[in-house]
Amino acid sequence: MSTEITQAPVVRPTILPLTDGVIHLRRGGTSVVVDVHALDGPVIVHWGVELDDVPEQLASLAAGATLQRISGGLDETARLGMLATPAHGWLGTPGIDGHGERGSSLRFSVTDIGVEDHEATLLLSDVETGLTATLELRLGASGLFHQRITVRNVSEDDFTLTSLQAAFPVPWDATELVETTGRHLRERSAQRHGFTFGTHLRESRRGRPGADATLLLTAGRPGFGFERGRVHGIHVAWSGNHRVMAERVTTGEAFLAGGELLLPGEGVLAPGESMSTPWVMGSWGDGLSELSHRFHDEWRARPQHPRRPRPVTLNTWEAVYFDHDLGKLTELADVAASVGVERFVLDDGWFNGRRDDTAGLGDWFVDEQVWPEGLHPLVEHVHAAGMEFGLWVEPEMVNPDSDLARKHPEWILQARQDLPPSGRLQQVLNLAHPNAYAFIAGRLHALLEEYPISYLKWDHNRDLVDAGSGPGGRNMVHNHTLALYRLLDELKQAHPTLEIESCASGGARVDLGILDRTDRIWTSDCLDPLERLENQKYTSLLVPPEMMGMHLTSPVVHSTRRTVSLNLSAAVALFGHFGIEWDLTQTDHTTRASIAEWVSFAKDIRDLVATGRTVFGDGTDPGLDVRGMVAADKSRAIYAVTQITTTITSPPAPITLPGLNPHINYRVRIIHPGGQDPQPGQSPLAWDRQESVLNGHILSTIGLRPPVQYPQQATIIEALHTI
Ligand code: DGJ
Repeated sequence: MSTEITQAPVVRPTILPLTDGVIHLRRGGTSVVVDVHALDGPVIVHWGVELDDVPEQLASLAAGATLQRISGGLDETARLGMLATPAHGWLGTPGIDGHGERGSSLRFSVTDIGVEDHEATLLLSDVETGLTATLELRLGASGLFHQRITVRNVSEDDFTLTSLQAAFPVPWDATELVETTGRHLRERSAQRHGFTFGTHLRESRRGRPGADATLLLTAGRPGFGFERGRVHGIHVAWSGNHRVMAERVTTGEAFLAGGELLLPGEGVLAPGESMSTPWVMGSWGDGLSELSHRFHDEWRARPQHPRRPRPVTLNTWEAVYFDHDLGKLTELADVAASVGVERFVLDDGWFNGRRDDTAGLGDWFVDEQVWPEGLHPLVEHVHAAGMEFGLWVEPEMVNPDSDLARKHPEWILQARQDLPPSGRLQQVLNLAHPNAYAFIAGRLHALLEEYPISYLKWDHNRDLVDAGSGPGGRNMVHNHTLALYRLLDELKQAHPTLEIESCASGGARVDLGILDRTDRIWTSDCLDPLERLENQKYTSLLVPPEMMGMHLTSPVVHSTRRTVSLNLSAAVALFGHFGIEWDLTQTDHTTRASIAEWVSFAKDIRDLVATGRTVFGDGTDPGLDVRGMVAADKSRAIYAVTQITTTITSPPAPITLPGLNPHINYRVRIIHPGGQDPQPGQSPLAWDRQESVLNGHILSTIGLRPPVQYPQQATIIEALHTI
């Protein structure tokens, strides 16, 4: 038994002859050059800066990329082919690994090539093992480079794939790696280290990317930052297990590679079956910001991208937790509406038996003991107050203490006689089981039909560990992930205006597989603005800001117990999908007025956030964080300067305002959306008082002195194009 993963891509009509066996894709400032007739199978000889389309130059580039024979080596020095294996002489990590009746030696050669506009499809085959491979290469409009590999078993015996991954060569002088690790409440902590010889491997075996996943594995010139320094990076657009690696070999080649991590048995291909890698996407830039903009631009160009203004959202979790009470929630809704909230989301705790996190998951019926009239009175109240209604669900999970688990224990993923280790007292439903799928899909459709729900917060609070099923305990992560995608696609199709948030104990399922089917992510359960700075910075490398949930916290942060000001919290939440996670019924009138001002400012700039460029300043005093949002036409920018600690110098050294047009003038000034904080500065700031006009070149390179602030304060600066 095996699994058909995705449909095998169709090879387009061959358009040959290719100039001297070289494919050149170029778009959006990026070129990809492939030598298709190399001995090592097709080889990417260049990925990066856009090149002129001069055939002789490209042919010479390809010829020049072959390697000399070296002492102690093979007679032909192998290079990193697109499906490199030992049978080519390649001694690094192979692009494909597996075994079947005909052995495990794999060597593919090109049999057909299709090139059309910005896409190329290469068909390869290994006649001896009875496999074909299709390599798809695509350059998006912003220069984002996509690769996908499909392997088909055309033999008469089973073949077991153990790994399949797409490789992206990077320049030899990319000797530093930046990536992230993390945990619940602290996703995406950056780590920077040398890209030395050998393999640096990052894997997820959690059945979801995980809080520790690096969304991007980036390699660049030493010291590269956000503003400058050439850097390349890749992302695997998949919500199950995955692996990414950076490898440097002694022939001088360095590359990034990624694909799905196949658990034992997941890659068994029966005769005629095929398996594809997810799309693996590569971007590059002079600095991480440029690299990230290619992702953002491409994502924003998709037809299904959420385009209407992002509604300011209030989520009830930290306001009431499991304590659902109609009176309290309607009061909360009233205050939310009064400060300008546009979407009210009822979090965990509304369904049968869910009084805490020990029971109820799976029983997706409104609990009549808590909600005797169903959710109708609340939903109607929310609508009457002019807001949309959203609802929390966690459809892939089940508590053993639930009617569902008692009735259908066979629907729980269970690889052996005992249940797998539990997490938050819950287990995972086998969504690939047709009846389990039908039940969950049925409940979701029923809820969406009964109530005018415009938004689902789709949670996922347990890793898929030891997630097998059936008498053979077969690993099910791959199939579960496909079933999840199917369910999301079907829901979206049946309810076209429905928006979905991907939440997984905060930001443990952030990837472009799920984000192709959902409208935003919950970035982290940690609402502490100081902690959020790094989390949001590195999440935004991949995710467009308008798809990142960023909420105001209550004054005492629940997860860190730090007391923070509203202004700090708001300034840090501004450049994303703005919202509130706070029991507003406990606030006084003055606080509500300030919240309303921030909400109004967030609405003023949300178009800028949804279409502009996210930028970060490098090289500031370590006590300061500088980030901003620059309009697509660069006519306006808003920056937030956050004082994390005291600065080394006082007054603080200049900060640069990145991303502006060097050739136009800007009027720069400080604005105070939520009212002014106490100012420790002994005199006014000259450039602010005089409403200075400076050109983008000066602002981005020399910069200006930020105000003296107390730690945990933030200042908002506006730069506006002026004649
Ligand atoms: C984890 C999420 O990240 C939280 O925001 C909240 O929805 C809880 N689950 C509810 O159980």
